[in-house]
Amino acid sequence: MDRNFALEFVRVTEAAALSCARYMGRGDETLADHAAVEAMRQSLNSINFTGTVVIGEGERDEAPMLYIGEKVGNGKGPIFDLALDPLEGTTICALGGNNALAVIAIAEQGRFLHAPDIYMEKISVGPEAVGVVDLNKTPTENLQNIADAKNCHVDDLTVVILDRPRHEGLIAEVRAAGARIWLIGDGDVSAAIATCMPDSGVDVLMGTGGAPEGVIAAAALRCVNGDFQGRLVYRNEKDRERSKQMGIEDLERIYGIRDLADGPVMFSATGVTSGTLLSGVHFMRGGAKTHSLVMRSESGTIRFIEAEHHFDQMPTY
Ligand code: FBP
Repeated sequence: MDRNFALEFVRVTEAAALSCARYMGRGDETLADHAAVEAMRQSLNSINFTGTVVIGEGERDEAPMLYIGEKVGNGKGPIFDLALDPLEGTTICALGGNNALAVIAIAEQGRFLHAPDIYMEKISVGPEAVGVVDLNKTPTENLQNIADAKNCHVDDLTVVILDRPRHEGLIAEVRAAGARIWLIGDGDVSAAIATCMPDSGVDVLMGTGGAPEGVIAAAALRCVNGDFQGRLVYRNEKDRERSKQMGIEDLERIYGIRDLADGPVMFSATGVTSGTLLSGVHFMRGGAKTHSLVMRSESGTIRFIEAEHHFDQMPTY
């Protein structure tokens, strides 16, 4: 995978972030999401590559743009599969909260799990705890194993969990185990990546969120040597049917990080609103500043890119 593509894909997440950041706090999730999707698609189509959206905005009949299976790029260069979310945290952006991102991950053809748009139980940790977590174990056991691997006490660990009624039992168990909890309203991709960033203060992500976001998070964690496991969660028969249609054979399978995103992976994220990893878009007279993170699994390089955009010289957002 040509490393120069990394900068091309930063432009893509920058474009998405710049477009939806205009709608921060306006209370309209659809407007913000639409702006990000349109900008990301337009930007992707200006790049010399042939891309297929594997993780995107949904099925073709429910998403007019960046739907699963859509071809993007100008069709001239190498062939890649894409796992993307033009606005990860639509509610966050609409309410002006923290940690909304524009994200994209790129891999060779066939390397991302074609995850259905259902829920996934997840556990994510940083490099020091690779190989010690297991979704077959209880949260208490996993926390003890993480603490042992990090040479600290369970009480020292901070666990990020989505603040949802379905996590009542999980939260009670983590509290009983003695770990600290950071409840988030949305945005578990950002939280998963934070487990790999030493200054974030986050040790582990636990709980159930979107399966597509699980694939994106796994791709990001491949670049920063973290660990991730996921298991699909079915709320009803429709979820099971949908999974089978998308080629999932073993419905109870626990997916390791490479089952979700294998081979060389590239990942780019741009902050829409400020958060743990990145600053959000700052508008100023005639332009804006963006803050992005771009990483490649092959080199392990993590680049933070601050960009100043001048709308009088470039497309207006
Ligand atoms: P969207 O950007 O699609 O709104 O996703 C936000 C998010 O919080 C994800 O980060 C998370 O995986 C998922 O939603 C959780 O789903 P739910 O809100 O249904 O619990």
